[in-house]
Amino acid sequence: MTTTDETATAAASGASATDRFRTDKSAYDAVKDVPEERVDLLAREVLNSIYDTIRRHKVTYDEYNALKAWLISVGEDGEWPLFLDVWVEHVVEEVATDHRKGNKGTIEGPYYVPNAPDAVDNTIPMRDDEPGTPLLWTGTITSVDGTPLPEGKIELWHADDDGLYSQFAPNIPEWNLRATFHTDADGKFEIHTMQPAPYQIPTDGSCGKLIAAAGWHAWRPAHLHVKVSAPGHELLTAQLYFPGDPHNDDDIADAVKPELILDPKPSGDGVTVDYSFVLDPEA
Ligand code: DHB
Ligand code: FE
Repeated sequence: MTTTDETATAAASGASATDRFRTDKSAYDAVKDVPEERVDLLAREVLNSIYDTIRRHKVTYDEYNALKAWLISVGEDGEWPLFLDVWVEHVVEEVATDHRKGNKGTIEGPYYVPNAPDAVDNTIPMRDDEPGTPLLWTGTITSVDGTPLPEGKIELWHADDDGLYSQFAPNIPEWNLRATFHTDADGKFEIHTMQPAPYQIPTDGSCGKLIAAAGWHAWRPAHLHVKVSAPGHELLTAQLYFPGDPHNDDDIADAVKPELILDPKPSGDGVTVDYSFVLDPEA
C-alpha cells in the first residue's frame, strides 16, 4: 500500500494522537475548570486504590521502578491518548451516557479528526485501489419520539484494510475513509464505504510492552466510528461492529455492546447493512 519506506509505528501514531488532542482546545484546557474539591476527592481516591493494591500484593521496589520506567516511556511515545482510550474511556462513556433513552454509544478512541469534508455522492473518500469489501449502509436518524431528523449529520471515520487510520499513519491521503454525511428531508441517509478489518492497537510502543508483559492480546474487533448529531439533540459518539468477529467478546478496549453489532447481508461484490440512530433531545 505504501510507496515509500516509511512505515506505521506506534511512536508515530501515538505522537499524532497526542498532537491531535492538544489541538482540541476545550478538551485539553478542561482541567482549569475542575473545582478544587473534585481534584482533592478524585486524586485522593485514585491514590488510595494504588496504596491498597501495593499493600495487598506487597509490591516490590523492582516493580515500582518498572512502573516508573514504563510511565516515562508512555509519555515519550506520545501514547497517553492510546492508553487512556483503550483502558479507561469506556467507563467514562458509560457514566456520561447512562441517562440516554436513544442509541447506546461507545468510546471515541484517539483517531477522530473534526471537520471532515462532506461526502460526495454519499461516498467516503477512498483510493482508486482501496482494498476491502464494499459496504452500503442505509438508515434513518430520528428523535426518541420517532420524529425523523432532516438536519441530521453523521461523521464517519474508520481504519483501512490494513487497520490504519489516515492522518495517523504515513502515506495515506489526508481524508481517506473520513467524511461527513447528511440526512435527507425524511431523516434518511446512505453511505458507501469499505468494510474495515479487525484492528490491532500499535504493539511496538509502550502500550504494546504492557500487553506483552501481561500476556494480553492487542486486538479490537473491526469497527466503524461515528459521531451522530442533529440540532437540539445530544451528540452520539458510537462504533459499529460486525457479527462473527472473534474480538467482539474480548475487545481490548471493552467498547463493544450488543446493540452496536450490525447485521450485514451479502450483495454483489460487497455487503449492505441497515442501521438507524435514535437521538436524545437536549435536556
Ligand atoms: C485505539 C484505537 C482505536 O481505533 C479505537 O477505536 C480505540 C482505541 C487505540 O489504539 O488506543
Ligand atoms: Fe478505532
